[in-house]
Amino acid sequence: MYLCLTMTEKEFLSKPYKNKLAKAHVTWQSPSNIALVKYWGKYGEQLPKNTSISFTLSNCHTKTSLFYEPKTSTDFEFEVFLDGKREAGFEPKILKFFQRIENYISFLRDYNFRIETTNSFPHSSGIASSASGMSALALCLMEMEQQLNPSIASDYFNQKASFLARLGSGSACRSVEGPLIVWGKHAAIPGSSNLFGTKYPFEVHPNFDNYQDTILLVDKGEKQVSSTVGHDLMHEHPFAEERFAQANSNMEKLIPVLREGNLDAFIKIVESEALSLHAMMMTSMPYFILMKPNTLEIINRIWKYRNETGSKVCFTLDAGANVHVLYPENEKEDVKKFIENHLAHFCQNKQFICDVSGNGAQSVIDN
Ligand code: DP6
Repeated sequence: MYLCLTMTEKEFLSKPYKNKLAKAHVTWQSPSNIALVKYWGKYGEQLPKNTSISFTLSNCHTKTSLFYEPKTSTDFEFEVFLDGKREAGFEPKILKFFQRIENYISFLRDYNFRIETTNSFPHSSGIASSASGMSALALCLMEMEQQLNPSIASDYFNQKASFLARLGSGSACRSVEGPLIVWGKHAAIPGSSNLFGTKYPFEVHPNFDNYQDTILLVDKGEKQVSSTVGHDLMHEHPFAEERFAQANSNMEKLIPVLREGNLDAFIKIVESEALSLHAMMMTSMPYFILMKPNTLEIINRIWKYRNETGSKVCFTLDAGANVHVLYPENEKEDVKKFIENHLAHFCQNKQFICDVSGNGAQSVIDN
């Protein structure tokens, strides 16, 4: 906790390395996450306009191996492979990431890299791989840094990994640890920072243990508006300041809700956050709609089911048409039946992915 409060960007700057590593590789598996209070709007170098909080997931993850070999030329040299196939289309984003983090990871030009990555979820599922992908890569780089400087402590390791991941994709900083991660400085949350994600520091009621997230794949196509463009549209947005204040207030309201296990209050905050996020998209200029007719069908069925059964199931949305169905572990069997019988046919090829909150990224030993 003390570390979080005093940590500054300066402390993440690279220290001079005494040696070079021989040719080898490191591998990390990092999960996706689902925000309860949404990050939408940023400033400066990937800094959030409001605090967000997410459940780290388990099953939706990216596994990335970073192969490295010392070299003498001074350029960045790397190639990206997805599922064993070269993906030159990913490389400009990685180059931008390397340029952004160079001050913090100064060995980047000293090695030739081969980045091999694979997702546990289907490539064209509409599930963003940037959070899991950027955090997995950041963790691989941190493992190299730790080999160069074995005195790095585990708190620093995780914070710097989250800090680097944020520079790749904002929400990625919430994937390093779990199960509940806060990003963005908030007066009511000790240790919270705009620079990296931190573990939610307060008591959480067992109602939220192993919280279920079933992701309904409504639209697997490419998004017509990227998150980056959407964030940018918040700059001239007529409701921006109100939205940032609303998110920060929702964050604070969640504290007693999480402590007391108040699922009715939880549902109100989470669903309102999802709809507010999409309301921002619909009221920006240019305006856009990422929900599809089946997104709305599913939302209405969830509300009807809740009214009829007293279930505590609810929904949230990311920047896309897919619906995340959230529910407590003790409703697992019932809600699964409801999804199979009443929601699956609104999904493309009846596809959905069952996930659950989890504890974050893991190193993989795979000689
Ligand atoms: C709607 O993290 O994808 O999922 O920082 O530009 O990479 P960049 O954006 P990204 O934005 C995700 C926004 C969101 C809400 C959230 O996860 O908090």
